[in-house]
Amino acid sequence: MDAIEQIRRDFPMIGNNENVIYFDNAATSLKPKCVIDKIVEYYENYSVNAGRGSYDISLLLDDKIESCRRHVSNFINASSENEIVFTSGTTEGLNLVVKGYLENQLQEGDIILTTKAEHASLLLPLMSICKNKKAILKYVSLNKNGTLNLEHLKDSMNEKVKAVVISHISNVIGAINPIKEISNIVHKYSAVVIVDGAQSAPHIKIDVRDLDCDVFAFSAHKMCGPTGLGILYGKMDVLNKTQPLIVGGGNNVNYFSDGQYFFKNAPYKFESGTLPLAQIIAFDTSLAYLEKIGINIISEYEIELKDYLISRLKILKNIEIYNLAANTGLLTFNIKGVYGSDAGKWFNANGIAVRTGQHCTRLLIDEFQTDSTIRVSLYFYNTFEEIDKFIEVCRRATRDNIYNLIFNNSKENKNV
Ligand code: ALA
Repeated sequence: MDAIEQIRRDFPMIGNNENVIYFDNAATSLKPKCVIDKIVEYYENYSVNAGRGSYDISLLLDDKIESCRRHVSNFINASSENEIVFTSGTTEGLNLVVKGYLENQLQEGDIILTTKAEHASLLLPLMSICKNKKAILKYVSLNKNGTLNLEHLKDSMNEKVKAVVISHISNVIGAINPIKEISNIVHKYSAVVIVDGAQSAPHIKIDVRDLDCDVFAFSAHKMCGPTGLGILYGKMDVLNKTQPLIVGGGNNVNYFSDGQYFFKNAPYKFESGTLPLAQIIAFDTSLAYLEKIGINIISEYEIELKDYLISRLKILKNIEIYNLAANTGLLTFNIKGVYGSDAGKWFNANGIAVRTGQHCTRLLIDEFQTDSTIRVSLYFYNTFEEIDKFIEVCRRATRDNIYNLIFNNSKENKNV
């Protein structure tokens, strides 16, 4: 990896917030200057619409959009750029495929398999379609390390199962699910594998053809890209059978006053209205930035950071860790005797940005038998020195210190 100090200089957020240690990368990543510049470049030089203009600037923009689509396709090793749909984020991509495809495949009594570690953006659309179709949502058990239990999956498969819907990496457990093995099991039946890749695409090499999943959704903003843009990869067969949830300008070839209409082929039938053009242009640059550093180098460095973090944290007696076996840079823990969200105030007061609470994974938090946890999520611009400072803050994180801080702050607030 390039010298870490050089990399950190690429991120204006880091320089502009010198007293903050940013450990909330699973929520969103920071953006390098080259990506920010690209957004400005769009607005300053070619801020026209795409797919509609017959003039040079618009045609140039069309090329840039399609060039990004090809870049994404290569980045995840899709078979064709037509398998790449631009969405607003992972949530929209998952909703699109669950409601636009899976729901139409279901008969009463059919089964969808998932796990209790999934994010609300997966579980809620699944619950909704199961309710509509009187289908059954079943949870495959998890191994001790938090990955899906393949034996239980095998035992749960039958002709009624229409899909296995799962995250590649849970946003709380941080362990990598064996998607290739899952696809292998599931494809022996007439069922599909739908993968939430929001927490994996930024951190590990994605090869959708090797994983052999049918659908893979992820977000640009978690991988040094802009907010408001997501990617939905789908095998052509699935995309062809998926109905768009939003229709309008740009997604149709023709429509008539008698109500007949004809959609374009995928991916364009899913892209009604004006796309997030500046974001797409900038995401092309984000991918190039990640490729320049090297996605495997990023993975290795994050694991080094995480191993160091755990080795230091395990020595402390006041810390309870929930995902020791995770093989990515994500750590979920609590401070003994302290409510997770209260601990967030302690870390904030000490200049450390972490996420606390239920992390949109209510069912998993129940499994942990707690209401709230603290999550540290690392990325390649974090440093060992930041971890040392974090450990020092954890060492001082006694119940007394934390509740004194909260109590004194609330007293001060009342005096204002
Ligand atoms: N899903 C994102 C997270 O885990 C927002 O923080």
